[in-house]
Amino acid sequence: MKIFEKIADTKAYLQQHNNNGKTIGFVPTMGALHEGHLELMRRAKNENDILAVSVFVNPIQFNNPEDLKKYPRDLQKDIDKLEQVGCDVLFSPEVEEMYPGSVTKQYDFGSVETVMEGAFRKGHFNGVAVVVEKLFNIIQPDRAYFGEKDFQQLAIIKRLVEMKNIPVRIIPCPIVREKDGLAMSSRNSRLNEQERSIAPFIYQTLVKSKEKSKNMTPDEIRFMVENMFADQKEFRLEYFEVADDVQLHPVYDWSESKGVMGFIAVHLGNIRLIDNIRFI
Ligand code: PAF
Repeated sequence: MKIFEKIADTKAYLQQHNNNGKTIGFVPTMGALHEGHLELMRRAKNENDILAVSVFVNPIQFNNPEDLKKYPRDLQKDIDKLEQVGCDVLFSPEVEEMYPGSVTKQYDFGSVETVMEGAFRKGHFNGVAVVVEKLFNIIQPDRAYFGEKDFQQLAIIKRLVEMKNIPVRIIPCPIVREKDGLAMSSRNSRLNEQERSIAPFIYQTLVKSKEKSKNMTPDEIRFMVENMFADQKEFRLEYFEVADDVQLHPVYDWSESKGVMGFIAVHLGNIRLIDNIRFI
């Protein structure tokens, strides 16, 4: 595996492969790699000639400085995992390399960035879009792979690619879960033992909401989920929303959209976790 820290070196190396007609599959990450990331990488490796991965904890997408400070980082551990999945190129820049000056770029993604994660994490999606556009520019991938756990991020990135006419295919990949149902996330490693043992309640609630969706209205489902969390003192529900799968707008009647999903964000101790489930 080739490891690069500099943009120019990464571009020059990958350009040779591009010129030779090789396809590049790209998985952008912030490190702390887990099985969810590795699944994206296996698929990218399988569907392309070259697997490129970035590990960069992007400071401008953190709305909470404490979260940025505590974000798990262990590059050597990540490198070992990348070797195992057969990664060909790792791009792992310093912050100064990615952002030599202040970042002023502002995107307008419309209402998809103002709901749910966008409403609770001001500036988050702008920061994601800035780094993803830069990474696409550096790596020039044919396909880029993103997990559906961050479903709203995926919607933003699809919009970014459309708006900027970036020649890359965005490949959404299903959520990878622990055996007990907890969606895999780098943040899970920051849960203490007790928090980790109760964390599957989030997915259990989503599963129950899906079961009940056959006989209940979206509002009844919202009410049920809010009540389920009201009884759980260790959790603080930030939002639970029933929304369509394109605009991510709230849905009040199942017939409003062909694709309807449940989205949740919960604080467990100091850790914020998100998850989602498809109803229709
Ligand atoms: O999903 C993530 O890990 C990050 O938001 C991403 C896409 C790597 C951008 O920093």
